[in-house]
Amino acid sequence: MTGYDALAEVYEWLISDAKLTPAEFAAAFDDVIRLLPSNARVLDCSCGTGQLAVGLSGLGMQVVATDASAAMVRRTEELAEEYGASLRTVRADWHELTDHFDVASFDMVFCVGNSLHHAEGARGRFVALESMSRLLRPEGRLVLTSRTWELVRAGGSRLDIRDHLVRRNGRDALVIYRWEIAPHWEQEHHIEIAVAQVTADRSVLVRSELLSCWPYRYDELGSELNRLGLRVEKSTFDPEAEGYMVVATKE
Ligand SMILES: C[S@@+](CC[C@H](N)C(=O)[O-])C[C@H]1O[C@@H](n2cnc3c(N)ncnc32)[C@H](O)[C@@H]1O
Repeated sequence: MTGYDALAEVYEWLISDAKLTPAEFAAAFDDVIRLLPSNARVLDCSCGTGQLAVGLSGLGMQVVATDASAAMVRRTEELAEEYGASLRTVRADWHELTDHFDVASFDMVFCVGNSLHHAEGARGRFVALESMSRLLRPEGRLVLTSRTWELVRAGGSRLDIRDHLVRRNGRDALVIYRWEIAPHWEQEHHIEIAVAQVTADRSVLVRSELLSCWPYRYDELGSELNRLGLRVEKSTFDPEAEGYMVVATKE
């Protein structure tokens, strides 16, 4: 199950205030973007609603944006149109990427924003990372961000109701995450996300989706990258922090 077709409609309520615009989203990756040549060819392979892809295009890069969810790809196209950004979009699961693009044809591949845990188990994750790796030219870089699953699992199954309303498009919403943590790391876990919008007449409009995910330890991810010839060049992993970024270079 890939999901996100229902959440695509309300995804802005799930994006942090600091990363709402394409320029702000891309600025969060300034450190890696500055390593790129000016006309770099980049792929965002879980583009969501397109903020990063449109932001990168605004910096002059040749951008391709892909996602498994058709609704997410449509939202990326709409955002690109709104900003007059030129980019190519394709609906593609990670394992299908090499059907669409030549190997060694990208300078940088992004897989950011809590996406990789949707790959099905260790096998699915390896296949996904392998596809991303194959698309990178030698010395190209894979940029991944991840939840710290060690922390998420330690918290157990729970309901996480945000402590403030989020305002987007003139409307407030309460965001709720329900975590179903399985007994073992390798089992399928679930996150149910609900966005409850309060409308002008005080009725509540709820959009929710149950998503499958397969957690992984930071060390596991590191060895999988190594096996694929991706050398970890930078990592912000901190076992006490909610999330981290890994930048790995193709040898
Ligand atoms: C949490 S969203 C992150 C979106 C965006 N990168 C961001 O940071 O806002 C996860 C994205 O991964 C996509 N996704 C999930 N499974 C996928 C798969 N197997 N192949 C490609 N994309 C997938 C979802 O459709 C969704 O858009």
